[in-house]
Amino acid sequence: MATERTFAMVKPDGVVRGLIGTIVSRIEAKGYRIVAMKRMRIPRELAERHYGEHQGKPFFEPLVAFITSGPVVAMVLEGENAIAGWRAMMGATNPADAAVGTIRGDFATTIDENVAHGSDAPATARREIEIFFGEDGPLD
Ligand code: CMP
Repeated sequence: MATERTFAMVKPDGVVRGLIGTIVSRIEAKGYRIVAMKRMRIPRELAERHYGEHQGKPFFEPLVAFITSGPVVAMVLEGENAIAGWRAMMGATNPADAAVGTIRGDFATTIDENVAHGSDAPATARREIEIFFGEDGPLD
């Protein structure tokens, strides 16, 4: 098992509902290092790039509208097996399928507003970290 970096985000619904602290706390309790973090409003162009793989799907426009509707908290997490590990902590994309004890299982009810995001593979993690942090990326 290797040390990995992954991209994580508290989505606008999580910020509005005051879940930043709870989510950050779970990440730290798990043992991942938060090596970069910023609260930001996502510009539309960045949202379209981030969700490029979903372009053309029926939920693309609502998804971009939602993710740009309010501030998010973007993070880079580091740790053993962090990519799959953070996905496991979030639970299934559709909260209806997410186990109790996971972030979506505990805090979300609909697939459109599912509180958190995480990269699904090493190449995605590299791409998403670059999109959100670019040259301001993790320094240590
Ligand atoms: P996430 O995996 O973070 O990024 C894509 C998002 O699209 C996903 O979370 C869901 O919030 C949203 N979404 C809305 N409808 C669907 C769908 N039918 N399938 C997958 N993702 C969906």
